[in-house]
Amino acid sequence: MGNAATITSVPSQADIAARVEAILGPMSLADKIGQLVQIGGADFMPGPKPDDVIRQGGAGSVLWLNDTKKFNELQKIAVEESPSKIPLLFALDVIHGYRTIFPVPLAMAASWDPDTAEQAQSVAAKEARAAGLHWTFGPMLDIARDVRWGRIVEGAGEDPVLGAAMAAAQVRGFQGPYPGAPDHVIACAKHFAGYGAADGGRDYDPVFLPEAQLRNVYFPPFKAAVDAGVGTFMSAYMDLNNVPAAGNPWLLRDVLRGEWGFRGFVISDAFAVGNLVIQHFARDGRDAAFRALSAGLDMDMASGAYLENLAGLVEDGTLDEAIIDAAVRPILALKVQMGLFEHPYADEDLLDQVIALPEHRDAARRAAQRSMVLLRNEGGLLPLSKDLKHVAVIGPVADSMEATEGSWMVFGHQPAAVTMLEGIRAKLPDARVDYAPGPEIRRDYPSFFEDFEPGKKKPAQTPEAAEAAFQTAVETAQGADLVIMVLGETDLMAGEAASRGSIDLPGRQEELLKTVVALGKPVVLVLLNGRPLSINWAAEHVPAILEAWEPGTEGGHAVADILFGDANPGGKLPVTFPRSGSHAPLYYARTLTHQPEDHFMYRSRYWDSPTTPLYPFGFGLSYTTFEIGNLKLSASQMKVGESLTVTADVTNTGSVAGDEVVQLYIHQRFGSDSRPMRELKGFERVPLQPGETKTVTFELGPDQLTYWSSSLGQWVQDAAPFDVWVGSDSQATLHAEFEVVA
Ligand code: NOJ
Repeated sequence: MGNAATITSVPSQADIAARVEAILGPMSLADKIGQLVQIGGADFMPGPKPDDVIRQGGAGSVLWLNDTKKFNELQKIAVEESPSKIPLLFALDVIHGYRTIFPVPLAMAASWDPDTAEQAQSVAAKEARAAGLHWTFGPMLDIARDVRWGRIVEGAGEDPVLGAAMAAAQVRGFQGPYPGAPDHVIACAKHFAGYGAADGGRDYDPVFLPEAQLRNVYFPPFKAAVDAGVGTFMSAYMDLNNVPAAGNPWLLRDVLRGEWGFRGFVISDAFAVGNLVIQHFARDGRDAAFRALSAGLDMDMASGAYLENLAGLVEDGTLDEAIIDAAVRPILALKVQMGLFEHPYADEDLLDQVIALPEHRDAARRAAQRSMVLLRNEGGLLPLSKDLKHVAVIGPVADSMEATEGSWMVFGHQPAAVTMLEGIRAKLPDARVDYAPGPEIRRDYPSFFEDFEPGKKKPAQTPEAAEAAFQTAVETAQGADLVIMVLGETDLMAGEAASRGSIDLPGRQEELLKTVVALGKPVVLVLLNGRPLSINWAAEHVPAILEAWEPGTEGGHAVADILFGDANPGGKLPVTFPRSGSHAPLYYARTLTHQPEDHFMYRSRYWDSPTTPLYPFGFGLSYTTFEIGNLKLSASQMKVGESLTVTADVTNTGSVAGDEVVQLYIHQRFGSDSRPMRELKGFERVPLQPGETKTVTFELGPDQLTYWSSSLGQWVQDAAPFDVWVGSDSQATLHAEFEVVA
């Protein structure tokens, strides 16, 4: 069977458009509507069998299926038996790897290295395409400033500039040089827009965001994805300012197509068109279909509302068939671009060859190393010696493949990660490495994902068993020369429908940590988690803390590489670590107030706890030391519309090679609106040998200084004085200033 990987010439836009018209011309209304429908291929889906729906021309795309043979069977039905004979698009959530699992997206953002993210997604794309998939529902581009929100794990954290860089990189990685390139998949920018600002961090809850917040903070990663050529968009679930995103013409038509010039197509989130009725926005399914399509939503993911209602709406004159044609065109264009009409089938032998490529695992290990953030290293406890004789590895996620691969498992994928325990054992072949999990951790309310994967459901530990596990863990620690505690969250504690009220270490983990530290042994804490955790006690009492996130297939090796000095941590936090979940949202780019933190009346915003972050945005340590200095601006004054350059020197002042992420922040001192006290405007991850110095250059011009003004209701670049800081985190002190004049 032919495979798309054999296509060699890139069709021009004009060729594609001409072919689309030729295909569209003879299509019946029913055929067209079928192209706007995506159906679930999983066995758990209620309703008619996918085979029958496809045979009748009722589907243009299939999701929740991950089986190459089955793809080919369904494709055969589509191209041989359906009325229009148009091939199907197979789509799946390939979020951070297909078979070779990379660190979760929040971790990838912590690398502050877009090239690493691009490479990771190109490996994911290659494996997914080899399996017969055409389209992934990623990257997830929701800015998240509320650490309670479970889906923070799927995005790049709190900052629009870092988020935009990661967005573009991931689109390039998934799609390759052009949409439809061999060995790549089409990307989907989701969830448009504002989803990360759910009230109280509660997943799916309403979002109220002023236009200035949307445009200055939440939109930039989406705009960057459009500029990088992303093929598709997914609308978000929730109400944005009382209008559900799936029925929001301002988002989907005015901004996305009108202002940004997006020419691909928009799919709803799962069941979201039908859910417009549940959300008490649409009167019934017919109204939902009408309003979603009119708003600019082209493809209905799994709700059935389009299939059931669009024909009737056209037949009774409510909906102009031209609107249907306009929605079908970009879907057909994508199928043409993907070469599906020439090569509809997947090569069933390809996947095994592709997943065996050693460079995939190497890339995953390197990405995991680069994403880890060293939060504390008192007395240089890390890196550890490989001569250690007796080590204890303790904690409920220390030997968990699920927690290592993390949230958003590929549908039907069996985790096969190197766990922390295995990675440490591999690094110390001659030492004694004892292990005890301690008491289990689990959600108070189970995840709905457990219903789909029955293997995940395990009976709860009894209090007696938990107590015995606690004691065993303490005894295991007692016998060792050094203890590595691996604590955090399970894979289902972050992700969709995985929000939390508190961000404490779940279960009895902190109690166990305190008990083990009290033994007086050197203790290293490795965190596996999909969101910031309030580790206030550990931050003061545990000498070494490594934030490893959910590091993927090679996670255990990567953590051991860092712990034992074969790799030097260089990641930085892409999100502020608050001291408590109740402080959320806490982010660095707040505007100043009449009583800023250095004001004599300021003590803390709460009288019962400090509201400063536990760890600031951009923070992360290294095994070496760096000095950043010689900050220079090419001009101290410029006119609106002009640019200047900022340079600074960064030197590795320690004795081992390492990477520093040099970060540029600005502050506009007054203007049409109040502006954030700091805003990231540039960053570069710089590798440095001991003693080596490099100069980093950033540009500041209209792209960086223009913002959407609430006062003016438009984009503006003010004439105003600015502060500039360059340094190693968002609290950098190396300072300069310049002025923009009219
Ligand atoms: C719901 C999620 O919100 C979305 O991110 C995902 O892509 C779809 N389901 C499809 O699985």
